Amino acid sequence: MTLLVTGGAGFIGSNFVLDWLAQSDEPIVNLDKLTYAGNRENLASLQGDPRHHFVQGDIGDRALVDRLLAQHRPRAVLHFAAESHVDRSIHGPEDFIQTNVVGSFRLLEAVRAYWSALPDAERAAFRFLHVSTDEVYGTLGPNDPPFAETNRYEPNSPYSASKAASDHLVRAWHHTYGLPVLTTNCSNNYGPYHFPEKLIPLMIVNALAGKPLPVYGDGQQVRDWLYVRDHCSAIRRVLEAGQPGQTYNIGGWNEKPNLEIVHTICALLDELRPRVDGRSYREQITHVPDRPGHDRRYAIDARKIERELGWKPAETFETGIRKTVQWYLDHPDWVQRVQSGAYREWVHKQYGAAAA
Ligand code: NAD
Ligand code: TYD
Repeated sequence: MTLLVTGGAGFIGSNFVLDWLAQSDEPIVNLDKLTYAGNRENLASLQGDPRHHFVQGDIGDRALVDRLLAQHRPRAVLHFAAESHVDRSIHGPEDFIQTNVVGSFRLLEAVRAYWSALPDAERAAFRFLHVSTDEVYGTLGPNDPPFAETNRYEPNSPYSASKAASDHLVRAWHHTYGLPVLTTNCSNNYGPYHFPEKLIPLMIVNALAGKPLPVYGDGQQVRDWLYVRDHCSAIRRVLEAGQPGQTYNIGGWNEKPNLEIVHTICALLDELRPRVDGRSYREQITHVPDRPGHDRRYAIDARKIERELGWKPAETFETGIRKTVQWYLDHPDWVQRVQSGAYREWVHKQYGAAAA
């Protein structure tokens, strides 16, 4: 028994691989292109572990994926690989279409060919689990009910449109070819190994570096936040007991405006690593121009996965954010190493020369 994981050197994928191998001896083949977001150092604790087989490569490389499937004969494919940052998708959507749409299509085709040729029992037990986002549902008004699995798809950014396209392909490969797929649509994750271009790690890293904390617009945009290990436990549960062809929304019932998140991070840092001048990190908050097309509110109705699969998050936002801030305080070397030249170029492009 083996799993093929795509994107397992990224934020959620590496947390998943580490969690999986902490609980199971079932090996993982980890296919990752190692874009700017992929980092083998996340998996350093698995060095020399025969249960983890890392392959650097592209999900769109059909010959490579065919070879990996034939060689390792996985019982499931867990598809995390994607371009994942909304702001980058606004500056340059091309990579998002290539990986999230074309790459997912090529991966599905390779998996379909492999799955079709499996013996009956293995074919019936096989699963393709597609990891997606709540952003495919678009944006909510302040009094709208949270996103259910039955909501219409109304993606608003190049990122969410490309993820929506991949969700549709996965759905069609089930209905047309019978591929046993599972799709999860999760809210915003946070936790260890989160690349510091996203809100929470960016704020922690900038605060500690004495840099501005750039809040887009009025900072009243709302996201639902889930600790990454709770997302990993939900994916394990869906793999184990989800019904092929079904989608599952995953969320933490933790809706918070961005400004409140930034205030919480500042308060934790004031407590755990006070500024030398004794003032609050809050003084570093700056309001910057809003993101074009910025979705105002996301919220997840997670009752289906709770009811049908018995999943519940283990962390509250208060416990998860404290662990996260502490992790960044404990791992300055990781932070320093991911802030490469390419990272500084991104910060310059997005926030201007003063922030870089
Ligand atoms: P990430 O950007 O941190 O990691 C993506 C990984 O995919 C990287 O390791 C990268 O090298 C790899 N990759 C990119 N293109 C590839 C390609 N063509 N072939 C092989 N590997 C490639 O992303 P993440 O935050 O870990 O997100 C993982 C998945 O979860 C994505 O599909 C994303 O849409 C979804 N998701 C993320 C969140 C979130 O809050 N981060 C929430 C819900 C869903
Ligand atoms: P992000 O972490 O990029 O996730 P997503 O856009 O996929 O939800 O952003 C989370 C929220 O934080 C979003 O409303 C945009 C906002 N944000 C800022 O205000 N400042 C920043 O520097 C970043 C990166 C995000």
